[in-house]
Amino acid sequence: MGSGGREDALAWRLKQSPSCGALIAAPGNPGIARWAECVAIDPCDPEAVVALARERAIDLLVIGPEAPLVAGVADAARAAGIATFGPSAAAARLEGSKGFTKDLCARAGIPTAAYVRADSVSSALSSLDRFTIPVVIKADGLAAGKGVTVAMTRAEAEAAIHAAGDGPMVIEEFLNGEEASLFALVHGDRAIALASAQDHKRVGEGDTGPNTGGMGAYSPAPVLTPELEARAMREIVEPTARAMAEAGTPFSGVLYAGLMLTADGPKLIEYNVRFGDPEGEAIMPRIEGDFAKLLLAVANGSAIGAPSLSSDTTMTVIIAASGYPGTPAKGGAIRGIDQAEQVPGVTVFQAGTAMENGQLVASGGRVLAVTARGRSIGEARDRAYSAVEAIDFADGFSRRDIGWRELERTA
Ligand code: AMP
Ligand code: GLY
Repeated sequence: MGSGGREDALAWRLKQSPSCGALIAAPGNPGIARWAECVAIDPCDPEAVVALARERAIDLLVIGPEAPLVAGVADAARAAGIATFGPSAAAARLEGSKGFTKDLCARAGIPTAAYVRADSVSSALSSLDRFTIPVVIKADGLAAGKGVTVAMTRAEAEAAIHAAGDGPMVIEEFLNGEEASLFALVHGDRAIALASAQDHKRVGEGDTGPNTGGMGAYSPAPVLTPELEARAMREIVEPTARAMAEAGTPFSGVLYAGLMLTADGPKLIEYNVRFGDPEGEAIMPRIEGDFAKLLLAVANGSAIGAPSLSSDTTMTVIIAASGYPGTPAKGGAIRGIDQAEQVPGVTVFQAGTAMENGQLVASGGRVLAVTARGRSIGEARDRAYSAVEAIDFADGFSRRDIGWRELERTA
């Protein structure tokens, strides 16, 4: 289920699995149509998804984005006896409600930023006194990473609270450090690390300007060393899986932990209940073996073998339509994907694209996810940007500095 760059990468990787026969995507996009049959149904409509799954007698349902999960599509599919990769609506609250996750962390002793919940402008303003500046203001609910303000002054914090208006909010301590993402496969109280990645959420070079869904990513993130990864599994992901199972709302699927690597160790910034976008595009080419079988094992809760990962580094560079993350220019012609894919190790995943009169055009903010693998981050970067150069999309722009922190460290 889904229609973005992440789902294109999932479909591409699933299609290469020896156990995958037919692959159906809903609603899909022109990129996904390269690997799957696309069916135009609403992935957030539980009845439509179950009807399609029954009609086509599918063996495994894989849900890409958060919206269908929060809408209960996984619950409906499981109730209909369909093996499903993706959590229930109750477990998807780990992403859907920041307040829910913060309360769970407090109960389970999971390291995260100190916080208070507020539900009105006046209570939020009075809670502000308990924090030092900088301080972080988060609107509760799904916001695709855009409902968060890191306020560098008190005036900015007050403005963010007024902008959020009366409604659930979380105010939290600012954490200092470098961010990294950890993706873990979870079923009930069992969890296994899959891969790490680092993304670039700001639209501008040097990580400046407004937040986006993500302008690029690479995997692995060596800053999350094997020791830190093991610690994050032990102190953050595993206690979360246990707490969810004990609460009667077990998690099943991929849990994406956004971590801040602080001087006191990894701390949880947020959870997502799905693969990241664009982190998913960067991770998929590194996963070896039968990916469909791996996801089916998670869905069924059978023994999940340690996933085998390539030691290559992959990098994804997003080409977005001008205007993004505001209103993106639509309809611009895209050419050159075949040439870009001539660059060794490159696959161009499609996010916001559509076919109009036989021409591929832009139809969303993030349009293409140009992904390259290499033996080093430098090689992956060189290949990714050679491929970006080969693409002819006048309305498009990309950041030129994806991976800069790691590239500086390895220079
Ligand atoms: P979130 O949607 O919670 O991931 O927040 C979006 C971004 O805001 C994160 O990726 C961080 O860069 C930043 N952020 C969120 N919470 C904090 C925090 N407590 N301290 C510092 N930065 C934060
Ligand atoms: N790249 C951030 C996300 O998928 O939420």
